[in-house]
Amino acid sequence: MRKFKIAVLPGDGIGPEIVKQAVKVMEAAAEKFGFGLELNYGLIGGAAIDETGVPFPEETKELILSSDAVLLGAVGGPKWDNLPFEIRPERALLGMRKLLNAFANLRPARLYDELIDASTLKPEVVRGVDIMVIRELTSGIYFGIPKGIFVDGDERVGINTLRYYEHEVERIAKVAFEVARKRNKKVTSVDKANVLEATVLWREVVERVHENYPDVELQHMYVDNAAMQIIRWPKQFDVIVTTNMFGDILSDACAMLTGSLGMLPSASIGGKIGLYEPIHGSAPDIAGQNIANPIATINSAGMMFTYSFDMPEVEEAIDKAVRAVLAKGYRTRDIYSEGTKLVSTEEMGDLIAEELKNL
Ligand code: NAI
Ligand code: MG
Repeated sequence: MRKFKIAVLPGDGIGPEIVKQAVKVMEAAAEKFGFGLELNYGLIGGAAIDETGVPFPEETKELILSSDAVLLGAVGGPKWDNLPFEIRPERALLGMRKLLNAFANLRPARLYDELIDASTLKPEVVRGVDIMVIRELTSGIYFGIPKGIFVDGDERVGINTLRYYEHEVERIAKVAFEVARKRNKKVTSVDKANVLEATVLWREVVERVHENYPDVELQHMYVDNAAMQIIRWPKQFDVIVTTNMFGDILSDACAMLTGSLGMLPSASIGGKIGLYEPIHGSAPDIAGQNIANPIATINSAGMMFTYSFDMPEVEEAIDKAVRAVLAKGYRTRDIYSEGTKLVSTEEMGDLIAEELKNL
């Protein structure tokens, strides 16, 4: 029997609540598909700060590096907002992505037909939306130096640096074209090449990589136009590949096509160990109330089986179970509409795990 060793990092805010539901579903999948799970829990973010003084303790680093994959909830919250920048919970995310060399962040935004009532956009605009946003995750303005707040004369200056090496663009572009090949063979590379030099280079390198993928269509788009097009006519997109910051922002916009931020999973790949987490944050405004939507985290666990363990059938089954539960009308608060049945985080997790067992 195959056995997977998974580092489980619930984090803080709604993290522990939603991760618990994903674990339930993974355990149901293990039973159904006959594989073993070794789950090892670790501290990260605010929970780690409270216990150890740092957001990304050595022990957690070791745990991650000795695992086959990582399942993460979310980190951050007002309790830790006033800490020095270097030891804020969110620093752990950057540290972990870098440690794992998880440079390609895959964020599928699909609107389930079952959820057409949950989107705030017109049904004809969003029905059938299926976009894969590929966000560069270990470089760009989140990592470039110089960075910081400095004194310059009699005032301060805040600096971040948008920086991309050719090899960094090359490897993310390759991922995008490979993914597009298995989908609808269209890549939109989003940049701001009209004003930002770093993205002029980005565009050039994407063009060069494209020469090896003549079967895939490539178009370039400026980020401001892309933001508008995502809302105007999202069905024109198949794969979107873009820089760290543009991907962060555009994927939140894409989330609204699917009804809720609580629906969008992600896989961060590139290194040996994959990282799986919902795209949303720790939602402190609803933490501890058992009302958060666990589906983004459950589907992130699903992606783990495709991208880390080459078992796409498990992801498909989890996806099917989620859709079946939605089709029966069960909704967490963020996707609730009149005539549907409101359930808690726990209930949603139980329903999906149960559905999966009975598929
Ligand atoms: P957020 O993503 O936590 O929440 C934005 C809004 O969406 C909130 O109204 C929240 O209630 C709602 N929401 C998010 N996930 C939901 C879910 N599963 N079900 C239902 N509603 C959901 O972003 P926000 O409020 O800007 O940041 C909160 C904290 O999270 C901050 O400390 C931020 O730095 C951190 N953060 C952490 C991330 C991570 O751990 N990967 C990513 C983004 C933010
Ligand atoms: Mg974000």
